[in-house]
Amino acid sequence: MIIIGGPASNGLEESIGKALREKSAKVAAKLFPDGESYIKMPGGMEGEDVVLVQSTYSPQDKHIMELLLMADAAREFKARSITAVVPYMAYLRQDRRFMEGEAVSSQAVLRFINAAGVSSLAVVQPHKDAPFSAFNGKVSLVDPIPLQAKAVSKLLTEPIVLAPDKGGVGRAKELADLLGCKFSHIDKVRDSVTWEVKIEAPLVGSFKGKDVVIVDDIISTGETIAQASREVLSKGAEKVIAVATHLVMAGGAKDRLKGAGVSEIFGTNTVPYEGAKILDIGGQIAAAIKV
Ligand code: R5P
Repeated sequence: MIIIGGPASNGLEESIGKALREKSAKVAAKLFPDGESYIKMPGGMEGEDVVLVQSTYSPQDKHIMELLLMADAAREFKARSITAVVPYMAYLRQDRRFMEGEAVSSQAVLRFINAAGVSSLAVVQPHKDAPFSAFNGKVSLVDPIPLQAKAVSKLLTEPIVLAPDKGGVGRAKELADLLGCKFSHIDKVRDSVTWEVKIEAPLVGSFKGKDVVIVDDIISTGETIAQASREVLSKGAEKVIAVATHLVMAGGAKDRLKGAGVSEIFGTNTVPYEGAKILDIGGQIAAAIKV
């Protein structure tokens, strides 16, 4: 096996390689003067099980294109099998056609990766409705929650876990079970034009004096968690910790969370970000792709 990091691997090929005791290498990449991507693969792929590690954070389209170039090259260099580890997989949130004429981008991206020669795929905590049936091959979903539970457990006195929307209830329950506490969720709606987040129904549960752990898959603008934080603090919570997997942190997200009273943010290294406590998800990915 050879584990090859792409330009957006965020160093994960090294921790995966270490955990599996397999060799890792990195592609050489640059841009042509007109902005097109250039990729040069390392040697030694012939007859090997090749694992390509490439996250698809911003600029998403470029990082997806690089992954497709890597996969196609690995096929040309006669890899025995090609696994793509895509720690943060972009485009998964458009998981259906909401309006006539829309492209279902999650399905499209899965098909492109497949068509480039990838026969197995590993993704860390994807958006829950992602249509993985569009990918013809093995799909491994990496669960970060046990790692997150271990990291936050020492910081909490009277914890309660909160999902900031209905879609996150499963995650909140799993984390609460590991922390040995209760969980609740918020009913959130997001305006599809302004992206504004609103809380729809009154929050259930007692938050007075509690350490609230708000758990989500992604922090993008931070608005979802900020709203949830303000809500629990207004109900007497002692402190609020945000636990997410993919810290996309678009435009001022950190300040928005701070301003809403979030005292600490935990994320993983699926996306490069330095303004939070970052957990290395490499060991969990290694366990998921181990044959
Ligand atoms: C939504 O379905 C996701 O689980 C997240 O709650 C959402 O992407 C977070 O976005 P933002 O940080 O922009 O509110």
